Amino acid sequence: MSFKKEIARRRTFGIVSHPDAGKTTLTEKLLLFGGAIQEAGAVKSNKIKKGATSDFMEIERQRGISVATSVLAFEYNGIKVNILDTPGHKDFAEDTFRTLTAVDSVIVVVDVAKGVEPQTEKLVEVCRMRNIPMIVFVNKLDREGKDAFELLDEIEEKLRLKVTPLSFPIGMGYDFKGIYNLWEKNVNLFSGDSRKNIEETIQVSNLEDSILDELVGEDSANNLREELELVQGVYPAFDQEEYLAGHQQPVFFGSALNNFGVRELLDCFVKIAPPPRPKMSEERLVLPNEDAFSGFVFKIHANMDPKHRDRLAFIKIVSGVFERNKPYLHVRNKKNLKFSSPNAFFAERKEIVDISYPGDIVGLHDTGNFKIGDTLTSGEILHYKGIPAFSPEHFRYINNADPMKSKQLAKGIDQLMDEGVAQLFTLELNGRKVIGTVGALQYEVIQYRLEHEYGAKCTYEPLGVSKACWVDPEDPKSEEFKEFLRVKQRFMAKDKRGQLVFLADSPFTLQMTQQKYPSVKMHYVSEFKD
Ligand code: G4P
Repeated sequence: MSFKKEIARRRTFGIVSHPDAGKTTLTEKLLLFGGAIQEAGAVKSNKIKKGATSDFMEIERQRGISVATSVLAFEYNGIKVNILDTPGHKDFAEDTFRTLTAVDSVIVVVDVAKGVEPQTEKLVEVCRMRNIPMIVFVNKLDREGKDAFELLDEIEEKLRLKVTPLSFPIGMGYDFKGIYNLWEKNVNLFSGDSRKNIEETIQVSNLEDSILDELVGEDSANNLREELELVQGVYPAFDQEEYLAGHQQPVFFGSALNNFGVRELLDCFVKIAPPPRPKMSEERLVLPNEDAFSGFVFKIHANMDPKHRDRLAFIKIVSGVFERNKPYLHVRNKKNLKFSSPNAFFAERKEIVDISYPGDIVGLHDTGNFKIGDTLTSGEILHYKGIPAFSPEHFRYINNADPMKSKQLAKGIDQLMDEGVAQLFTLELNGRKVIGTVGALQYEVIQYRLEHEYGAKCTYEPLGVSKACWVDPEDPKSEEFKEFLRVKQRFMAKDKRGQLVFLADSPFTLQMTQQKYPSVKMHYVSEFKD
């Protein structure tokens, strides 16, 4: 197959949702359609199980699983689908944000009863900012939930999306009869438990056709006709260009657990979702079909076996082909590296591959060369943009508890931060190190891993900080900025990239500071000059 055809047939995407909305279940059903797995229950959830003996042990267990589910690939109707795992627990939110830099589109799962939940809001906001094409899947239609129109309103308001339903439910919960597919113009009847079966659909091209009344009963049929009239009156028609530009989001309804509405979603997805997209680097826009290879590291998975310092760096291929045993330039280190055993990922297994194409993810064994965000190329100096850091929610000083092991501690902290476990800030005033995390549990994980993987011991000390803000002065030479730096000296720190950060102890302080120094802009995200 030609290089261009290989690119055109790839769809690399992530599923985003609040924990429990049904991401794992949907992933599994998609894999079933792709023939990548044979039975339900094969994909292990990456989330923290409620009531697990220790959340911390659960995190360790999941680190094991998450290598296996990092990329799940399958073929469907000649299309190579790569699903990138976006871990669902709040402690992993940062990991999830980073994965979003490697997807070409996303599917957003919303629970019909719970509606739009906080984590979905956060993740969708990032996708919206980056104009990532999104399809929404409203899940659990077999349960009582919100009215479809109410839910569509909520999605538009809370997620600030412009939706257009491509399918519509006939009834809901106890009364759920099936789904009318506006995209294919057919009815799919819900028969209860269809967990393993793929439902037959019945073509109903003309809604006035009495076959509809026969299928779902006169009342439901009339109801559906009215509702669809409203849909057509209220929502714009589906426009693929708008969807691809991130300006319109088609919505599907279904029940992942019952394997219902999933085929419709997948069929539409492979048709409309984008193949690998061009990517902006600091130097220029890079197109997937360029001959020269380039890619970037979006995830590092380290030290699963404490006896071996093995790390797996996940690279998303942006342009050209990646070949085994060919030297590539590690742009930050200015070194050429060769990889004798690059891994490609399929559902639940990895294999050594000779050649990979744009859109694909390869896993490279690494002994500490890579950091998240690093670029690898055929020789050109390129720096890919777009792996920003977000303000952590928790902050603590980290202290060395074993003076004989300060080197090990420094190395451990360095590598764990490269892996993206947490963020490190160094105070300008005294050089003290502050660890910022999204979830408080992460501190235990860091302490445990420093001890078991690096032989270093640490303690933490509380620090009254509520947000880290990246500082962006209008004029770095202005008197106002100089005064800001002097007055706020105690709260100034540098992040790992050397960018200046203001550690605000409360939202009130932040507000006052902004009022007092209006020319010094503050951002919750490290990349604001996009
Ligand atoms: P997540 O990855 O987004 O966190 O969600 P997951 O797929 O694990 O689903 C969360 C729960 O919702 C699971 O139940 C799952 O079976 C259920 N679920 C998913 N899709 C549907 C659906 O269409 N209808 C209904 N009624 N339930 C659905 P659980 O009891 O928490 O887990 P399990 O014991 O089934 O594994």
